[in-house]
Amino acid sequence: MTEAVAHYNRVARILHWTIGILIIANIIGGIAHDPLGKLFPVMPIHKSIGFVVLALSLVRLAWRLTHPAPPLPASLPGWEKAAAQATHWSFYALMIVMPMSGWIFSSAGTYPLNFFGLFDIPKLAVDKGSALAGGAHEAHEILGFVWAGLLVIHIGAALRHHYILKDNVLTRMWRSAPDA
Ligand code: HEM
Ligand code: HEM
Repeated sequence: MTEAVAHYNRVARILHWTIGILIIANIIGGIAHDPLGKLFPVMPIHKSIGFVVLALSLVRLAWRLTHPAPPLPASLPGWEKAAAQATHWSFYALMIVMPMSGWIFSSAGTYPLNFFGLFDIPKLAVDKGSALAGGAHEAHEILGFVWAGLLVIHIGAALRHHYILKDNVLTRMWRSAPDA
């Protein structure tokens, strides 16, 4: 297999798209929950999705650390490779930090933490009004918007590779290599 057709393996691809859809739903739900108010209670679903993201992201991170990504096309300038790697590793960090910060500050709140109405999720030992609860809340809000911005760049870069550079960077995350 030449470098140009090296694809992500099936596990990496399924985890990428599953987690990606859930995160996009949570960013939209998180931002929409204020305007929606009591019209539709977004937050219980938001929290449950967040816990799914946390669990799947730990699996994904373990998988990624044991299964290196296929190398980017050799023709890409060094700065683009560095930018792609910086974005990807920030995403891995956000996949853990976002749900964890939500879990931390919600533990100090009055609402119970429940997983899709099936069972309770234990609250962490965080005091209401503590610096930890306040910091986690602020981080959750700021990083949510940072992530939305990075995501626009990530999607734009994927589309540029596919439609302008016409390389296999998007398809290698979408399906197996043609000769695999
Ligand atoms: C919140 C949603 C998303 C997250 C968190 C996310 C995260 C990531 C991460 C961490 C990687 C690096 C994989 C690795 O090398 O270990 C990656 C790669 C990739 N993502 Fe996403 N992604 C998201 C949405 C999308 C969307 C909507 C698209 C397409 C329009 C997309 C297209 C790609 C492609 C093509 C790659 C492969 C890049 C390469 O080969 O270096 N992603 N994504
Ligand atoms: C993939 C994981 C997650 C993402 C991407 C995410 C994203 C967001 C975003 C963008 C907001 C809106 C911030 C704002 O407009 O102020 C938000 C709010 C919120 N999130 Fe998350 N979240 C995630 C996981 C969680 C988890 C696991 C919990 C709790 C267990 C949680 C609890 C909350 C709460 C309670 C709010 C409302 C905060 C407020 O209005 O003051 N989130 N989230």
